[in-house]
Amino acid sequence: MLQAQRRSRYFTSVSQGIARISIIMTLTPADIEEIAAQALAAIAAAIDLDALKEVRISHVGDRSAIAKANQALGSMEVSARAEFGKVIGKARGAINAAFESRQSALESERDARVLVEERVDVSIPAQRVPRGGLHPLTILTNEICDLFLGLGYRVAEGPELEAEWLNFDALNIPADHPARTMQDTFFIEPLDSHLVLRTHTSPVQMRTMLEEKPPIYVICPGRTYRADELDATHTPVFSQVEGLVIDKGITMADLKGTLDHFARSIFGPEVKTRLRPSFFPFTEPSAEVDFYFNGRWVEWGGCGMVNPKVLRAAGIDPDMYSGFAFGMGLERTLMVRHGITDMHDIVEGDIRFTQNFGSGIR
Ligand code: FA5
Ligand code: MG
Repeated sequence: MLQAQRRSRYFTSVSQGIARISIIMTLTPADIEEIAAQALAAIAAAIDLDALKEVRISHVGDRSAIAKANQALGSMEVSARAEFGKVIGKARGAINAAFESRQSALESERDARVLVEERVDVSIPAQRVPRGGLHPLTILTNEICDLFLGLGYRVAEGPELEAEWLNFDALNIPADHPARTMQDTFFIEPLDSHLVLRTHTSPVQMRTMLEEKPPIYVICPGRTYRADELDATHTPVFSQVEGLVIDKGITMADLKGTLDHFARSIFGPEVKTRLRPSFFPFTEPSAEVDFYFNGRWVEWGGCGMVNPKVLRAAGIDPDMYSGFAFGMGLERTLMVRHGITDMHDIVEGDIRFTQNFGSGIR
């Protein structure tokens, strides 16, 4: 049974083989010419490289009629093989040459099109993406920090939400001082938290003295808050920079010399400074520091020799150490230096104002 099946399959395949060969054997040179003509027509009609790829499969490649005719050569009678071989070889040569020339023509066409379609006009101005930049206050702050870092100071910072004790009591500002009313200071609820938005950068003095032993040379920039209305010269949120030096043998002359150097580097070598007697509970003696710029005296900030009471509160022996402190408003500094007449310009953040400061906005 099994044997019979095998035998029948054998006969079938042999008979199919004979049939296939006989079909090929019936091909004439005219048929080959016809095959070649069809292939050449298809090649010529291919409108792009994708179409030509299809033509290659059906008319040029291994499964094309011409390739099959070529494969059939081997089963031809030897006498006919040479002549028929020549006919097929000539046809294949013509098809391959036509294919290659069409391919290179279509490739050049595509390359030319890509060059036009993907052309980059290098003369079109580049679109600049604004990168943002530093606010003039930040630029000024950096400038001041750089100056004092160069003198051997360290930059110190403190929190804007500050303990009432550090903002006032530790600085010898008594409980009944007018600055400690709601009119001047933002107290944080609940009131028994005893937190305020710091009204000046001076609490950083006390924080530094509690943390470090002298000698102390620090510069403390930062944001400060007072219940002032926003007008041309005031803002409820403003910036100060505090300086503090504690060392042996520090005198008022060191303070004056430091302020002179500070003023000259901010306003130029021509600027003059003066100290006017004043009062701050945490300095003794105290002074207002003014500078003379563009023909007028301008109040810059407060300063003085650190009150021995404050030194003692920080655990520093006033018989061994002395020091000075100063605190300036940065918005006012910027206004005078750049002739800005309205505080609103500084706080509103309109970049049409900001970008005039060379702050890196493009
Ligand atoms: C003080 O704040 C002291 N802590 C300064 C000080 C430090 C004295 C160290 C002694 C030793 P005063 O309240 O004067 O001082 O403020 C200092 C500066 O902050 C002023 O000169 C002004 O430039 C600026 N300033 C004060 N209030 C405002 C405000 N509402 N808007 C803008 N700037 C202000
Ligand atoms: Mg003042």
